Amino acid sequence: MNTYIGIDLGTSSMKLLLATADGTILRSVTKEYSLHYPQSGWSEQNPNDWLKATRDGINELLNGYSRYEVKGISFGGQMHGLVLLDDHDDVIRPAILWNDGRAQKQADYLNDVIGKEKLSQYTANVAFAGFTAPKILWVKENEPENFEKIAKIMLPKDYLAYKLTGVHSTDYSDASGTLLLDTQNKCWSKAMCKICSVDKKWLPKLFESYERIGQVREEYDLPNAIVTAGAGDNAAAAIGTGTVKNGACNISLGTSGTVFIAQDTFSVDKNNSLHSFAHANGKYHLMGCVLSAASCSKWWMEEILRTQGFADEQEGLETYLGNNEVFFLPYLMGERSPHNDVNARGCFIGMRPDTTRKKMTLAVMEGVAFALRDCIEVAKSSGLTITATNVCGGGAKSDIWKKIIANVFGVPVSVPSVEEGPAYGSAILAMVGAKEYTNVSEAVNALVSTKSVVEPNEQLMEKYEKRYRKFQKLYPALKGLFS
Ligand code: XUL
Repeated sequence: MNTYIGIDLGTSSMKLLLATADGTILRSVTKEYSLHYPQSGWSEQNPNDWLKATRDGINELLNGYSRYEVKGISFGGQMHGLVLLDDHDDVIRPAILWNDGRAQKQADYLNDVIGKEKLSQYTANVAFAGFTAPKILWVKENEPENFEKIAKIMLPKDYLAYKLTGVHSTDYSDASGTLLLDTQNKCWSKAMCKICSVDKKWLPKLFESYERIGQVREEYDLPNAIVTAGAGDNAAAAIGTGTVKNGACNISLGTSGTVFIAQDTFSVDKNNSLHSFAHANGKYHLMGCVLSAASCSKWWMEEILRTQGFADEQEGLETYLGNNEVFFLPYLMGERSPHNDVNARGCFIGMRPDTTRKKMTLAVMEGVAFALRDCIEVAKSSGLTITATNVCGGGAKSDIWKKIIANVFGVPVSVPSVEEGPAYGSAILAMVGAKEYTNVSEAVNALVSTKSVVEPNEQLMEKYEKRYRKFQKLYPALKGLFS
């Protein structure tokens, strides 16, 4: 029996799963690691914590299963993170993550001095503080002693692939989020490397997500396993939920929330409000990203309500759907799409003496859905029509949250049979890399199916439309207070 390991290198934890070539999940394992906020708006992790989670996770996953039968491994990884290695291959400083806002000044320099038009022409995207290139400039300006030591630059999942194989690689979907890739032509942009003082020899070799990059090194004791390049977590999740046809949409409710729209051909939306990135099937996608999604619920439940009983807290919320007086703005880490404001922060608005804990819990989930709807509005204004969506991520385990999404977006929400989006997508990419399937479409057709569909309801849609119109006025009204 051939088996495959899919690894989702997330922000709050790593999920690993072991699957057979027909998509049967034999086991899945979660490994936690810490996330550090050294200053307000900063966010870092230690790449060696990810490596430890990978080693321990693989051992736990394979306990009782044959190590010889593992034919392939691949990754879906948190995007945009900056991992720097010196010429001894040691990590120079903690990784600066996708939701870290410290490089706003450098992003402003790129957008305003180099100019958005040029950035878009070179990369198909404009600069956001969370993207990799502004972070490189931040290190150059603020930690010149670390900048001097750089021998290799890599994205989070690529550090794991490098440790497993010795091959310094990345894939086009993840590379798109660096702002160093010429996304349309799928090569590193010479112009961007020059602007960001990046020596091209620091950069990894580029692969399609489903291409084999190398063999697992002997020390990991997986003698028959190859490593496939893998993808940014959103592209991997899109594979895992079957979001591959032109116009198909996937919503991810992970630490971040994303609206991912698959595209057969390369395109850029008119104001670069959506990211224009490569997809893991060799094509492209457009994406909006809200920085805090399931992380808002985690914060509310664990830090404020001091409970792990998410299901208990969500019980009975049906009664209030569409009628909540409370609004929540989910900008705990600032916001990327569409406001691009690292200073924005979370707020509750509209409480009354009869407001309950339940209604505030509901407001948190609704606030995330409204923020994602903001991304859908941008997509609509660029001429894209979204008629249905898939869903995945930790937040998608909540039935009430899926119902809110269906009614706030006004579209049916399909729940895939396997809910581990990025981990399952990576396992599928590993299978394609090992030639179990000839291409990603064939694999997705064979391996991804829908478990259930949550349909929107006319009356609720109307109520949520009114609430969304109010939500839309809140950020512009509060913006001035955040700066
Ligand atoms: C996408 C983004 C996030 C991270 C989360 O642009 O920044 O979705 O990939 O892991």
